[in-house]
Amino acid sequence: MRLVLVGPPGAGKGTQAEYIAAHLSVPKISTGDIFRANVTQATPLGLEAKRYMDAGGLVPDEVTINMVRERLTEPDATDGFLLDGFPRTVPQAEALDKMLGDSGVSLDLVLELIVDNDEVIRRLSGRRNCRGCTKIWHVEFDAPSREGVCDRCGGVLYQRDDDKPETVAERLRVYARDTSPLVEHYGGQGKLVGIDATGPVEDVTERAIDALRSYS
Ligand code: AP5
Ligand code: ZN
Repeated sequence: MRLVLVGPPGAGKGTQAEYIAAHLSVPKISTGDIFRANVTQATPLGLEAKRYMDAGGLVPDEVTINMVRERLTEPDATDGFLLDGFPRTVPQAEALDKMLGDSGVSLDLVLELIVDNDEVIRRLSGRRNCRGCTKIWHVEFDAPSREGVCDRCGGVLYQRDDDKPETVAERLRVYARDTSPLVEHYGGQGKLVGIDATGPVEDVTERAIDALRSYS
């Protein structure tokens, strides 16, 4: 299955992508994770991306599209994938439609995670990420048993630079301006399914998997 997850920053895309990708046995491809890995390794791509990420803006389409095009040619993605955080602009969506079309395939479904801004702010202000395995935690909603330490791999937890309140406000503005038009783009293709992304993580996963069942 070829799937896309869209939703505002903090909607739970990364959290849900992990469970849904495992359920479908497809790779989870997160452009945010790929950029962050490049930032950590200080690659040229990471140095360029960091400027935009720190300001709460988007990395230019051309850079992002080329990175995804390369990733989708890797063998694990040929039979299916779950994209988290891409596409994020209409030109990125059009480029994805074209790259899949050139290979004779297309997207099956786009899941939109729906949460309001107050909930997003609560989620982002308490988020902690693992440096070791990239698992996403929350100080209140999904706290590890030892503060600051990942239960899964023992790695150190950190707070993302772009989770500062002023950067979050800019990310929400950018989402409304540049990413929300994707709802219309995919709605017009009959591929969009909206999921209520509030409540416990497991309930959201169940709603998403139910939606996949009804559309497959
Ligand atoms: P990216 O990493 O994609 O950030 P984002 O879209 O802003 O989304 P987040 O990762 O902040 O949130 P999420 O929806 O994954 O929520 P999460 O599961 O962590 O991108 C970062 C930056 O990279 C962008 O700003 C941009 O600069 C650049 N970039 C990336 N892709 C790009 C692209 N395509 N084009 C251009 N630039 C790009 O959950 C949040 C918190 O809530 C966690 O603590 C979690 O534990 C908690 N939580 C999750 N679900 C629940 C629940 N049901 N109840 C309670 N808490 C919950
Ligand atoms: Zn970990």
